[in-house]
Amino acid sequence: MKILVTGGAGFIGSAFVRMLARETDWHIVNFDALTYAGNLENLAGIAESDRYRFVRGDICDQELVTSLFASERPDAIVHFAAESHVDRSILSPEPVVRTNVNGTFTLLEAARRSAIARFVHVSTDEVYGSLESPLEATEEFPLNPSSPYSAAKAGSDLLARSYFITFKLPVLITRASNNYGPYQFPEKLIPLMIANAIDHKPLPVYGDGMQVRDWLYVDDHCRGIRSVLEHGREGQIYNIGGNRSLPNLEVVRRILELTGRGRDLISYVTDRPGHDRRYALSSEKLMNETGWRPEVDFETGLARTIEWYRSNASWVDRVRSGEYRTYYELNYGARAEAMS
Ligand code: NAD
Ligand code: TYD
Repeated sequence: MKILVTGGAGFIGSAFVRMLARETDWHIVNFDALTYAGNLENLAGIAESDRYRFVRGDICDQELVTSLFASERPDAIVHFAAESHVDRSILSPEPVVRTNVNGTFTLLEAARRSAIARFVHVSTDEVYGSLESPLEATEEFPLNPSSPYSAAKAGSDLLARSYFITFKLPVLITRASNNYGPYQFPEKLIPLMIANAIDHKPLPVYGDGMQVRDWLYVDDHCRGIRSVLEHGREGQIYNIGGNRSLPNLEVVRRILELTGRGRDLISYVTDRPGHDRRYALSSEKLMNETGWRPEVDFETGLARTIEWYRSNASWVDRVRSGEYRTYYELNYGARAEAMS
């Protein structure tokens, strides 16, 4: 079995590659452009393996993608590569539409000219948009995205599905809730708050902090994707949720407790435009069809994640140097000023 993983140097993709290297004898080709979010340090332990190959490249590069499919002849593709952050998609939508929509299109086109047996498209619960309590999205829910990020993901989901319906490409789509865990770039809520708390820096809470997200430990997500890859039905969509909904403020308070910091570090800042109030989804279909379950409860996962960030301060320092500072100033500078 040879598997092509796109975005395998990012947070979830690298966890997936590490899992496959640990648990299978498959050959893995990791295709990644190494944007600000891609980091080969995440794969240091397996770089030398003769079952692993890294190819640096852009999923929008039609020539390169076509030649990669021709030379590697993968049996399956798991497509993670994306611009994955909502705030960046608000500050600068162009690369988000380019990578998430055009990049996915380029991969689908190359795949339909190959003999690929599985195309797993990794998507998000954000395509369902904000849901009133107690609703939980099933896979049949209408798509109602709010941000350029989630709209571009929804666009790529629809394209992927159209390739199954029209060209019989064996596409499967996964839609996961918010992930957390080691190696997550400190722009998303949990790693940003942990890194700031460790450094005694303010924790910027958007709006009233009562927005709700469902938290999924990254390794549970990766096991879910593997279940879909191996046991899912072609053309189907599978939700993957953590079954743990919490308001942001509660998450932030727990991080402060576990890092031994006081609540005085909480800083309420201007809300995100178009901020989705609540995401929630049902993973019944995946559970019923494959027996998958989330295994890491939030308390264990959060403690493990904080421990990882404490023990990997140099990783955090390196990813927070350079471009991160410009982004931080752009996203948070104006917010804090507006509140003061
Ligand atoms: P990430 O931002 O950590 O990593 C993205 C990776 O894609 C990086 O390695 C980057 O270099 C690569 N990449 C970006 N543009 C590329 C391009 N044009 N060509 C090739 N490589 C490119 O993202 P993540 O959090 O690991 O998310 C992975 C996937 O999972 C995404 O598709 C995202 O939409 C989806 N997802 C994420 C979450 C979450 O909570 N993070 C939840 C559900 C679904
Ligand atoms: P995020 O991790 O960006 O994921 P998403 O927006 O894709 O769900 O944000 C999770 C929640 O945390 C979301 O409601 C926005 C909020 N948030 C903050 O309050 N402050 C922050 O600095 C960040 C990054 C997010």
